[in-house]
Amino acid sequence: MAKEPITAVVVGAGHRALAYAAYAKAAPEELRIVGCADPIELRRKQVQELYGLPDDRLYETAEELAAVGRFADTVINGTMDHQHIETSVPLLEAGYHLLLEKPFATSESEMWQLVETARRCDRKVMICHVLRYAPFYAAIRQKVLEGEIGQVMNVQTIEHVSYHHMATCFVRGKWSRKDDCHSSMLMAKCCHDLDLIMWMKSGVAPKAVSSFGGQIYFCPERAPEGAGTRCLVDCPIEGACDYSARKMYIDHPHRWAAYVWFELEHLTEPTIEDKIASLKGGNPHGRCVWGCDNDVVDHQTVCIEFEDGCTASHNLVGGTARPSRAIHLIGTHGEIQGVMEDSTFVIRHIATRSGHEYTENELDLSISGDMHGAFGGHGGGDGRLAADFVNFVRGSAPSISCTTIEDSVHGHLVGFLADKAREERRVVEIE
Ligand SMILES: NC(=O)c1ccc[n+]([C@@H]2O[C@H](COP(=O)([O-])OP(=O)(O)OC[C@H]3O[C@@H](n4cnc5c(N)ncnc54)[C@H](O)[C@@H]3O)[C@@H](O)[C@H]2O)c1
Repeated sequence: MAKEPITAVVVGAGHRALAYAAYAKAAPEELRIVGCADPIELRRKQVQELYGLPDDRLYETAEELAAVGRFADTVINGTMDHQHIETSVPLLEAGYHLLLEKPFATSESEMWQLVETARRCDRKVMICHVLRYAPFYAAIRQKVLEGEIGQVMNVQTIEHVSYHHMATCFVRGKWSRKDDCHSSMLMAKCCHDLDLIMWMKSGVAPKAVSSFGGQIYFCPERAPEGAGTRCLVDCPIEGACDYSARKMYIDHPHRWAAYVWFELEHLTEPTIEDKIASLKGGNPHGRCVWGCDNDVVDHQTVCIEFEDGCTASHNLVGGTARPSRAIHLIGTHGEIQGVMEDSTFVIRHIATRSGHEYTENELDLSISGDMHGAFGGHGGGDGRLAADFVNFVRGSAPSISCTTIEDSVHGHLVGFLADKAREERRVVEIE
């Protein structure tokens, strides 16, 4: 007998929630969107039109939705970082299972509050660690699970955040100030990488953490001589600047469009003139990158020690030419090394008896044609994650990538404590 689709309400109809909700279009027999809650009327109406929702299934807030009583199986919660607790707690108490964006909390106490609520209400919560679904990381995890490199003794990960991503999100944008979004850059950007490290360690608990970092490039002292305050208003050196808002957002009209053109969302097709006027006016993305009020780090290093003696390090660097994520795992019987954007990784084993120092086998995921999946960003990860969420809620066997809130705790905890270690310049032991 055919199964009924799992029903979901979109809460926080920004671009992330809609990326997962799109699975309902790709597989209507699996997922059906039956409601929406968002304070922005335009966004509510867009979801209504997209999924044919009746007027009485539109709500202004998650809290209002929770108060009417549960009418769907699940909620896709794509609100901003600091709203995850206030929106999720009433929804869990109303009986919804949740697909919840990362970071799922902005402090350790918030994290435990949500874990406790999910346990008390006996609800399923899956966290959107999309990189676990990227074929690159899923294939590496599979090799580790198969014992290909033995026990993992050291993990090194690197995230290079490109100059345009850094400028748009962490200097000019909505993750640039801790008092605004409540997440550090480490948590907003690298809770994925910390989660991947924990995943590769197969549940071995982290024991201690240290961290260094700060803001050394995107700060007023670095402003080139003569720099203005807004690129298109008063900057005589705009033409020579790599961070010119014109070069970033007018010459590349689709670059970070969901963030940069937020205030033009009411226009079906904003013209170049609309965009230039916006950058000259109040749009935060028209500001000089050395004259913003950003206070998050632009680089940070985290060191972790695990219960089994394994060590790990993560390097976050913002403002690089090329965006990339790299991983190097060293185990008792071999090593795995690769860069996600290259879609390849190598597996090495010691091989002195064969006359060589080591063997090296390359796995090229671009050849398998599997990097992009059926649809969705993050190397097809968004679509696979939404499909796995349906399995998870149904109680069918989820994939190896499925991240419950409990699975996500170690990565989040290490992130919060790394920030504490960095701020207090000390090693933090994990209870
Ligand atoms: N998994 C990933 O790789 C990834 C990538 C980018 C962002 N994110 C995370 O996704 C989340 C959403 O990011 P976004 O850029 O889509 O955000 P967004 O700002 O575009 O969307 C958030 C929406 O929530 C709505 N909202 C605010 N308060 C609400 C309430 N009380 N009830 C219901 N709706 C409410 C807002 O009006 C807005 O439409 C963030 O936590 C972000 O850090 C995850």
